[in-house]
Amino acid sequence: MKKSSFFLILAAFFAAPALADSIAIMQDESRAMAMPFMKKLAEENKKAVSEGGPESAITVCKDIAPSMAGEASRKNGVRMTRVSLKVRNPMLGTADAWEQKVLQDFEARVAKGEKPDNMEFVEVVKEPAGSSFRYMKAIALQQACVACHGTADQISTNVRTRLNEEYPNDKAIGYTPGQIRGAISIKRAL
Ligand code: HEC
Repeated sequence: MKKSSFFLILAAFFAAPALADSIAIMQDESRAMAMPFMKKLAEENKKAVSEGGPESAITVCKDIAPSMAGEASRKNGVRMTRVSLKVRNPMLGTADAWEQKVLQDFEARVAKGEKPDNMEFVEVVKEPAGSSFRYMKAIALQQACVACHGTADQISTNVRTRLNEEYPNDKAIGYTPGQIRGAISIKRAL
């Protein structure tokens, strides 16, 4: 074999790693997008609550989260969103059929005692429009979220009024810490 063709074969081998390997790589890359996103949101939420109370933190979930997700999506050539089975904003947060199935599975895993902190699911999904790599990472409800997603007695009148004005169909209340609030969903065309 000529040396040049050997290197061509070698290059082809590395360009098309086994599917399992590339899934593991894409899972790592998804994690590398999801983790800083969640961390930054928690920090921004804490900062806003301590500076101006829960009312002023509305902007974190309303403006900062979608804009950060949009920016990360553009930068990485994927679609990253936050989805839930009980949404506050149906325009942005409604889960598609695949996402609903995974969220239900996350809830079942929590019910069996699994901790939601590192809960993930990945799958290569074939659709008429083409195949995609899909990643979900559970978002657990924390104590810092109950001011806006907790039970009725935990949500102040001011916050309730603001939420009622902006989200007349709000379903994202009544959660207790440790429950699955939703998930980060990443979809990447293959
Ligand atoms: C100060 C109020 C407030 C706090 C605190 C808050 N959220 Fe939200 N959350 C909102 C609002 C408002 C929306 C709707 C955002 C929009 O318009 O897209 C929302 C939406 C969401 C969504 C998107 C799905 C949906 O229901 O529309 C997720 C997921 C979410 N919040 C998780 C959390 C988590 C986790 C925490 C705690 C770390 C938290 N939120 C704390 C107000 C809040």
